[in-house]
Amino acid sequence: MCSIIGYLGDGSAAPILVKGLKRMEYRGYDSVGVATISGNHITLRKGVGKVAEVNNAIKLDMLLGSVGIGHTRWATHGGVTETNAHPHPSSSGEVAIVHNGIIDNFEELKKELQQKGYVFKSETDSEVIANLLQHNFDQTKDVKKSMIQTVSSLKGNYAFVAVFEDGTLTAARFHEPLIIGVGKNGYFISSDVLGFIEHTDEVIYPDNREFIIINLNGIQFFDFDGNPVQHQITKVSKELADVYKGDYAHFTLKEISEQPDTILKAGESTRMELDLTTEFVKHAKNLYLTGSGTSYNAALVAKHIFSKYAKIKIESIISSEVAHSPNNFDQQSILIALSQSGESADVLEAVKIAQKEGAKIISIVNIMTSSLVQSSSISIGLNCGPEIGVAATKSFTAQLSILYKIADKLCGGCIGLDLDKVSTCVTKILSDQTKVQDIARNLKTISDIYVLGRGIHYAIASEASLKLKELTYIHAEGLPGGELKHGPLALMDSNVFVIIINPNDSTYVDTLASAHQIKARGAKIIGISDKPNEVYDYWIEIPEINEALFPLIEIIPIQLLAYYAALEKDTDPDYPRNLAKSVTVK
Ligand code: AGP
Repeated sequence: MCSIIGYLGDGSAAPILVKGLKRMEYRGYDSVGVATISGNHITLRKGVGKVAEVNNAIKLDMLLGSVGIGHTRWATHGGVTETNAHPHPSSSGEVAIVHNGIIDNFEELKKELQQKGYVFKSETDSEVIANLLQHNFDQTKDVKKSMIQTVSSLKGNYAFVAVFEDGTLTAARFHEPLIIGVGKNGYFISSDVLGFIEHTDEVIYPDNREFIIINLNGIQFFDFDGNPVQHQITKVSKELADVYKGDYAHFTLKEISEQPDTILKAGESTRMELDLTTEFVKHAKNLYLTGSGTSYNAALVAKHIFSKYAKIKIESIISSEVAHSPNNFDQQSILIALSQSGESADVLEAVKIAQKEGAKIISIVNIMTSSLVQSSSISIGLNCGPEIGVAATKSFTAQLSILYKIADKLCGGCIGLDLDKVSTCVTKILSDQTKVQDIARNLKTISDIYVLGRGIHYAIASEASLKLKELTYIHAEGLPGGELKHGPLALMDSNVFVIIINPNDSTYVDTLASAHQIKARGAKIIGISDKPNEVYDYWIEIPEINEALFPLIEIIPIQLLAYYAALEKDTDPDYPRNLAKSVTVK
């Protein structure tokens, strides 16, 4: 949920760190800070706001020195304040740390350290790492020993980077991502390769329960008991560096617009894994799908297509509910985990639970270097390139494309999956956005939007309402059409907008009837359909396509509507308030 970064090399650390933080801002963006070493002292600047804003105000990138650490925060413990922003120095200021994760036993450790005279300034759990490391260093005068003692005291999930005033960088990883970049002129430590990809594509992935020491003599890896560990350098794809908006005003619009291409590329880099998955699914006794947020909505769509077309029963469980729901995970079970980031804590927890019972894990994931991939027997890559906008768009249609491919293979092509046609339809929808922009203007002062669909379109309605919530902060709710008369109809009046997902398929007539019931109560109706009807106050046309494939295209105009309504409301579509791109806390 936060991004951490460290650098030691020949270059000037602060500008390198600030640039890296900008690229990783998707992980958290309520405050930012940098600390560097100059003249054997730690100098630190931090502030509340996005990287660019804070940097403009207090010139983070002007700090001197060639060693440093940086952080962007997504608050968990303690409000969004300058004091709670990272880096956190120890009370003597000889050590400073940046942290991602949660320290479960921080209160207990804080009390012990306070009794020993260490002073705390923030409300965060993270500050305890700074003082604990300082305390252990005060006792041992040895960086390695102080790291061993520190990691043995910490409970929770964490990755942290620390800088000592002699210029030594250290870092530790326990169930949170941490990647080392090995450049020609320096080392990088980061939550994501995006933090340093423009400097080097040579990386090392430390294992869980490892710590790292970097100084002018080089880099060393140790397990938490202090035993040295050897690692190979691997190369990552330079394509990861493609995180610029280009001519687009926002990443979100860029990513929505990339879908004609990403739908075609989905799963293409891992074709063998896709075929293997189909075979495993065919023979599994119990099948489950899991994910959070948008990824869960993709699982809901998949549940429909698997049962309707492939006649395969598959259960979809929200990842955070896996621990609390009855299930039959066993050695003949398969859990298909969906995740853009591959780092969502809820998804990783669901995987752990299923794995414990012997279930096989297959993941459908965008970040192929993620923790989820490491925990899976088979991983299929979304292959849609970095998704920076916090609202998932292209990753959703990439997930659907892969799930459709599997279902279509399972039933011998009965779906008639034609992704070229889907891609052409999406291009057509994207080619004229003026109507959607006009409709978006009407949403500026609205406080409630409902999105109604039946059957498989209800899953898309759920995803549509999630997009509207995230991007516009308008209360939005997905409704199964038939349920309207069982309660929600009471909410319909002239202040409400209802989006009706109504392609001309087997749900059409019943959904139209719901639209009439809503219209009779004065609510405004936006119809998403290939067929016009006078009941719609606004009609957003989608192209005709094989009825099984409508879900892949009907979400596109709603993504656009949410984006343009966000612009009308003057919210930042790329970085909605209170959210983060990868949710690595439970
Ligand atoms: C989607 O727009 C959201 N930002 C969010 O619901 C997201 O889908 C969820 O946090 C899961 O993320 P993941 O796919 O990276 O696991």
